[in-house]
This record gives sequence, structure tokens and C-alpha cells, in this order.
Amino acid sequence: MLIEGLHYLTTPVPRAQRTLGYLRESVLLMSRSRRCRAAWADHLDAARSAIRQSCADLDRRRTAVVLGSGLLDDVPLAHLAQCFERVILVDMVHLWPARWAAHRYANVALQVSDLSGCVKWLRGEGERCADPLSVFDRRDIDFVVSANCLSQLPILPLDWFESRNRPPPDELGHSIVAGHLEGLSRLQTRVCLIADTEQVTDNREGQLVERSDLLHGIVLPEPDRSWIWEIAPFGEVERHRRERHRVQAHLDWRP
Ligand SMILES: C[S@@+](CC[C@H](N)C(=O)[O-])C[C@H]1O[C@@H](n2cnc3c(N)ncnc32)[C@H](O)[C@@H]1O
Repeated sequence: MLIEGLHYLTTPVPRAQRTLGYLRESVLLMSRSRRCRAAWADHLDAARSAIRQSCADLDRRRTAVVLGSGLLDDVPLAHLAQCFERVILVDMVHLWPARWAAHRYANVALQVSDLSGCVKWLRGEGERCADPLSVFDRRDIDFVVSANCLSQLPILPLDWFESRNRPPPDELGHSIVAGHLEGLSRLQTRVCLIADTEQVTDNREGQLVERSDLLHGIVLPEPDRSWIWEIAPFGEVERHRRERHRVQAHLDWRP
């Protein structure tokens, strides 16, 4: 709790990241990732390996961009920093551990960007951004990773409406997920998409308790790789239940 409070108080973030809950979510994610280190290890290895393979055959290696870089747990940062002239880590919030990791490399930069396109709109500062990824459609970018952030993008925008007892616009979650996938498809570069698609809750008897779609009705094509991420082992959320996510990796995203 103390550590969480320190991060909450000392992380340099714009005001919106606090008021809309992005900082709180990042700190909670960090705490859970530390508690669940063993349960998450295979998932993180699989994600890092997928990213390494996705960029292995690229001829040009100028800039790599990691969308949803977060804690960098699933990002092979040392490998990317070595293989590319420049690496840009993009997230709403960069907590201290990610800042310190990035500062070890002269060619790694942090960028704060809203990948959902909703933040300014929710703050009453204009319309929803139709294509938040268009800023990454640059000739010097040779590799883009969407690092397990797809299912996260609609969560806080939908919470914003729920906390105000207001119905969200029709299909908001669906359109945020679809918008991210379409934005990735428009990029003229190698794209590695890693995304969790489904949550399965089961009990200690192995019985299925609940299954939920994390992508608001969007079904991804057959992945190159898929695996199970034990995101909440028994005892993390409930004593006799655990939550597992199906994760897909698309090493060259072209739907
Ligand atoms: C499950 S985490 C991804 C894990 C991360 N790659 C890591 O290794 O820690 C999802 C990430 O998406 C980020 N995120 C959620 N909504 C976002 C938004 N609208 N714009 C940018 N990043 C966002 C969160 O801050 C979080 O770091």
C-alpha cells in the first residue's frame, strides 16, 4: 500500500491521467504483476519471444514503437534497443520502473499518447480522435508492437460513463477496439499484435464459472501463436476461483 501510494503521488503525469484513472490502473497493474510474478512468467516470456520473432527478418531497423508499453514486463527492451536505432515507448502512464529502464538506453524515448482517442473528448476538449495511430504512420518507423493493450483501451472510457450513470454511445467498446485494429492495419510497417481476447474463470474443481469476451464482439483471425495467461491465480481475486486470459500473437498483423 505504501509503495502504491508513493507511485501515485510521485509519478509525473498530466492531470487527465489521474482524474480518468489511468495512473491508478497502472499502479494496480504493477502491484498485481509483482504479486503474480510466478503465474505470469510463461505469458511474459511468450510475449517477449513473439516480439523478437516478429522483427527478426526486418531489413531496415530505424524506429521501433511499442504501444501500451506499460511496465515493460512483456517487452524485450534490451533486444529492441540493440536492434533498432530508436525505440519509442507509448503509454498513458510511465511509472518509475519503466522510466528507469528506459533511461538505461540512450536510444529509448517515452511518449505519452492516448491510444483510445477518447481522453480529450471525455474531458470536453473536442471530438473523439478518429485515428489515434495515424501519428505513427511515418516513413522512419519500421516496427510497431501493440503490446497487450487492445482489451484495455475501452475500459476507462466505459467506466467514465458508468461512474456518471450515463449510457455510453452505442458500441463504444466495439468501436475503440475496431479503431485500434484498423489503425494498425493502415500502418505501412511490420506490426506485431499481442492481445488478450477472452477471460475464463474456473474453480478449484475445474468447473467453468464464467467466460467473457474482452474484445466487445470482435473476433481476431487465426493467430500465429496463442497461449493462456493466468492473470489471477487462486487467491488473487477470489480464494476458490482463478481467472485466465487467452492471448493471441499476430507476428505480421494483416487482417
Ligand atoms: C495490460 S497493460 C500492457 C502490458 C505492458 N505491455 C507491460 O509489459 O506492462 C495495458 C497497458 O495499456 C495502457 N493503456 C490503457 N489505455 C490506454 C490508452 N488509452 N492509451 C495508451 N495506453 C493505454 C495501460 O496504461 C497499460 O500500460
